[in-house]
Amino acid sequence: MLSVRFEKDSVADASSRAVARYHGPMEPFVLANDRVRLTPATESDVDAITAWCQDDEVRQWTTIPWPYEREHSEYYVETVIPDGWHSEKDYTWIIRDAAAYTEGGPEPVALGTMTLRPDNADEGLQSGEIAFAVAPEARGKGFATAAALLALEWGFSPEGLNLARATWRAALGNWWSRRVAWKCGFQVEAVIRAEVPMRGQRGDGWLATLLPNDPRQPNEDWPADAPWPGTGEAA
Ligand SMILES: CC(C)(COP(=O)(O)OP(=O)(O)OC[C@H]1O[C@@H](n2cnc3c(N)ncnc32)[C@H](O)[C@@H]1OP(=O)(O)O)[C@@H](O)C(=O)NCCC(=O)NCCS
Repeated sequence: MLSVRFEKDSVADASSRAVARYHGPMEPFVLANDRVRLTPATESDVDAITAWCQDDEVRQWTTIPWPYEREHSEYYVETVIPDGWHSEKDYTWIIRDAAAYTEGGPEPVALGTMTLRPDNADEGLQSGEIAFAVAPEARGKGFATAAALLALEWGFSPEGLNLARATWRAALGNWWSRRVAWKCGFQVEAVIRAEVPMRGQRGDGWLATLLPNDPRQPNEDWPADAPWPGTGEAA
């Protein structure tokens, strides 16, 4: 058990610094800034999740069941996500557009998921892996990057998970995911054989790391052999 907790129902302020502490089994809470709002998943998100999980890219690059049915997202929202929070092994939020909120209006549509998954090391020594998906119609607008940065901020915070390191991994060739990791400051360390569980096999994968004091901006050149968008340079 971690010694420091965020309060149940705590909400991060507009500068994205989460507030308050929580004592006891972890309940989902909100992290927010002026770009994205990461919220607990609710039943009303099931249709949106079911819809984006029909996308070929999501099928190709993640381990969702296939074919993906509504009952899969129901189980995900009702069981998998809450269990992850309560067991403190897997923190998953729904990504929403902060600009889509209106006074007294409904929760805006779910745009994707952001997960932070700490390993089993002792507090202060844990490494947390990020994983994410964004609905096809919301891609290319920076939502995955903004959501990852917000989750990482909480993850590294001493009032959050107090992580000593974060990791990102993806199957070789998932340049869009790699681009998100790159923009967050991750540095790809290696190509690791049979790193990523795929459908019926394990595929080779990229592994990247981010340390607490690494700048949250590109920390290495964008690979010259990337098919897109050319040769970026580290800031
Ligand atoms: C990877 C993924 C989450 C990126 O989400 P996103 O919200 O589009 O990400 P961002 O907008 O923050 O950044 C992604 C970068 O890739 C670009 N990009 C994203 N999807 C792209 C696509 N299909 N084709 C070309 N470029 C794309 C964006 O323009 C952006 O680059 P830029 O900021 O330099 O212009 C999304 O493509 C996705 O859900 N893919 C399928 C699931 C998946 O692969 N998950 C990760 C498993 S490791």
